Amino acid sequence: MSGQEDFTKRKLWGGRFTGATDPLMHQYNQSLSYDKRMYAADVKGSIAHSRGLEKAGILTQQERQEIERGLKQVENEWKEGTFKIFPDDEDIHTANERRLSEIIGKDIGGKLHTGRSRNDQVATDMRIWLMDEVENIRGYLKDLVLVMANRAEKEVDAIMPGYTHVQRAQPVRWSHLLLSHAHAFYADLNRLSQLIPRISTLPLGCAALAGNPYSIDREFLQQELGFDSLGENSMHIVPDRDFVIEFLQWSSLMMIHMSKMAEDFIIYSTAEFGFIQLSDAYSTGSSIMPQKKNPDSLELLRGKSGRVFGQMAGFMMSVKGTPSTYNKDLQEDKEPLFDCVDTVANSIRIAEGVIATLAINADKMRAALTDDMLATDLADYLVRKGVPFRETHHISGRAVALAEKQKCNLSDITFEQYRELSDKFEPDVIESVFNFENSVEKRDAIGGPSRKGIERQVQFLRAGVEKL
Ligand SMILES: *[C@@H]1O[C@H](CO)[C@@H](O)[C@H](O)[C@H]1NC(C)=O
Repeated sequence: MSGQEDFTKRKLWGGRFTGATDPLMHQYNQSLSYDKRMYAADVKGSIAHSRGLEKAGILTQQERQEIERGLKQVENEWKEGTFKIFPDDEDIHTANERRLSEIIGKDIGGKLHTGRSRNDQVATDMRIWLMDEVENIRGYLKDLVLVMANRAEKEVDAIMPGYTHVQRAQPVRWSHLLLSHAHAFYADLNRLSQLIPRISTLPLGCAALAGNPYSIDREFLQQELGFDSLGENSMHIVPDRDFVIEFLQWSSLMMIHMSKMAEDFIIYSTAEFGFIQLSDAYSTGSSIMPQKKNPDSLELLRGKSGRVFGQMAGFMMSVKGTPSTYNKDLQEDKEPLFDCVDTVANSIRIAEGVIATLAINADKMRAALTDDMLATDLADYLVRKGVPFRETHHISGRAVALAEKQKCNLSDITFEQYRELSDKFEPDVIESVFNFENSVEKRDAIGGPSRKGIERQVQFLRAGVEKL
């Protein structure tokens, strides 16, 4: 080489630099160790860009074909694990371009970056990458909701105490509780779908900050990459990471739902409750106490919600003070996003496994039901006989006090004693009120725990998942 250094061996921006980068600075600055997972998105974006360059007359058809051939080889090398990383490869974009020039020669390879900056390139890559991941996550969420709906349909007969303040409140169907969590995940599925148009807004062709001077047809790039829309202002769209933040926020809320559900099931799986038992596949034993079966899967779901929230808060703080356009702070978007995508995807799949394989103990659920949980039903009985609710609440309260005094259950109070509390009580009171099945069936308005209510919810969720 005639005294001139081969530019493919230099940093992309090396022209004006004479001193070498401090080794720790190189390590601190590089992102290839983690952003290499976007290699396919980077190749896809580069192919679209090369087609845009051909259309703008910057590349000949033959040059563009060479670039595509080279990029396909680069992609294959990553896929097969044969891509050789060089010490100077800073990130996935420079690594791919360096390798491309080795494969097809620097005379053509060196033209690819025309009219493009790493700023619009990386933003494009991340959006392409995240859209694929969102599609996977949507699939996992759908599976989770369907597993819950199937289970709710099958186990509709099981009746258990519904709790408020973790105090026994009123009887509900187990299915109703399970579906309460399924509806939260269904809402998450909706919200995630609503993020897609904002992820699918294209920055490519906006270059570093001020647009490209080669009349590269951005509508053509949009078509090539199948994006929903184009960023309309280069200074806005190139550094825009709102789509990352929104995904992290979405993940945080979804994981809060995950954590709350895990907490319910941890409580219900204790010997004190014994309503559910986790399968061996999702539990672990204790290292010293042979009798123990620990709900580690659920505890991890609960614990990881904190990790996801932390990623969100951390990245939001990284962005908060940055001035307009690209600043290296934005590179801090990748590790939280990647970690969050992995955590969320795995959490949903674990939750699906836990729910698909746990066993319920309907007898224990039923045994936890007590007459006092029907005190409201007793009041409702009198409402149907025309007594104002405020008064019925008071009468029912006196019945509870009487049972406590006599150390008996509400259904052990005699009809004559009820009659003394109110002359509206009739001989059917004990039989019609103190029946848990009747109690849940009476609450048959939309949204309630009756058999009809469960069926309706199952249909609603199945149809909704199908539609999304
Ligand atoms: C009240 O009913 C429960 C069953 O629901 C029973 O186990 C308990 O012994 C009863 N209490 C009294 C005081 O009869």
